[in-house]
Amino acid sequence: MIRVGIVGLGFMGKMHYSCYNAMDNVQIAAICDIDEGRFKNTGATSGNIAGAEGELDLSGIELYSSFDEMIEKANLDAVSITIPTYLHPENTKKALKAGINVLCEKPMALNTDLAADMAAAAKDSGKTLQIGQCIRFWPEYVKLKEMIDSGEFGKVKAATFQRLALTPLTGWENWYMDGPNKSGGAALDLHIHDSDYIQYVFGMPKAVSTGGVKGMTGDYDHMVTNYIYDDDMVLTAEGGWMFQASFGFEMSFNVVFENATVVYDCTREPAFKVCPADGDPYTPEVLPGNGYSREIEHFIAVVEGKDMPEITTPSQSADSVRLVLAEKAAADTKQIVKI
Ligand SMILES: NC(=O)c1ccc[n+]([C@@H]2O[C@H](COP(=O)([O-])OP(=O)(O)OC[C@H]3O[C@@H](n4cnc5c(N)ncnc54)[C@H](O)[C@@H]3O)[C@@H](O)[C@H]2O)c1
Repeated sequence: MIRVGIVGLGFMGKMHYSCYNAMDNVQIAAICDIDEGRFKNTGATSGNIAGAEGELDLSGIELYSSFDEMIEKANLDAVSITIPTYLHPENTKKALKAGINVLCEKPMALNTDLAADMAAAAKDSGKTLQIGQCIRFWPEYVKLKEMIDSGEFGKVKAATFQRLALTPLTGWENWYMDGPNKSGGAALDLHIHDSDYIQYVFGMPKAVSTGGVKGMTGDYDHMVTNYIYDDDMVLTAEGGWMFQASFGFEMSFNVVFENATVVYDCTREPAFKVCPADGDPYTPEVLPGNGYSREIEHFIAVVEGKDMPEITTPSQSADSVRLVLAEKAAADTKQIVKI
């Protein structure tokens, strides 16, 4: 039984709770939140994706308001760090130093130096550090990568990825709205999911050109990037959280292969569709669960010492921070920025 702790019982802390709680080989041993009020009204919902709602059963779980005390007393094998982004580096390093394996939410950190520091701390500790780049584990995105890698539909000629959301005004102390110091704006917080997936599947681009606008956070809250490769293809991603609350959330991709068009839109029915050059459109079978449950099962399997495929590494997550910062620089300068 793996003894797990969760630090930060906000939107994502509750999501991690639900995923761990559904696993037989995990005991949620302890939860820490600086605001002890979070242990009371656990049914209150926030955030942009369904799945973290509902009252939590905290009976039998040690509750802390200090992470230091939790580290000292709770005898944890692993911890989920689900606190605001600007607090990731300090707390991740603290846990690793104490010999605890860490699943830290994305984005890894606000800048590349901090991210590199976290990766180095993981290496020194000999413990696992996984950053919650859940799109690498999202069933439809996993299937898309299989299609690209196998070449079954030929080469990719054009692909676009979108991630559009309402403005997140529900964060603790409204931390999302401080782009420069706390969240990195929608570019680093939201759009990074697609930047990370693109570098996972296609490798780091040669260069990027980006258009972006700054919003309420004082940082880029909507951006569109053209990822430039040597290959004969066009690859773009658009992400932003300047949508009205009634819009909600939408993630999608449209991929033009030589011999098929493959589309996904989480708001559509069917959400996932392959339109082959010959034959009728169909919806492919995908893995069960979602990106959150699958990344958490993967993390626990690695902690248990199982032989797992390498899906994400700390240095790749640091590269995703680097990539998004290059996109911001391209938007700032209105120039192509080399990676
Ligand atoms: N993977 C995804 O799809 C996804 C989605 C949303 C958010 N996130 C990421 O998850 C992280 C958390 O976001 P959220 O929306 O859950 O935030 P949130 O504001 O809803 O929750 C943060 C929680 O952390 C607590 N907290 C703050 N400082 C603390 C400290 N020092 N020690 C202990 N607890 C502390 C707060 O009281 C609050 O309960 C962020 O990095 C965010 O970018 C990821």
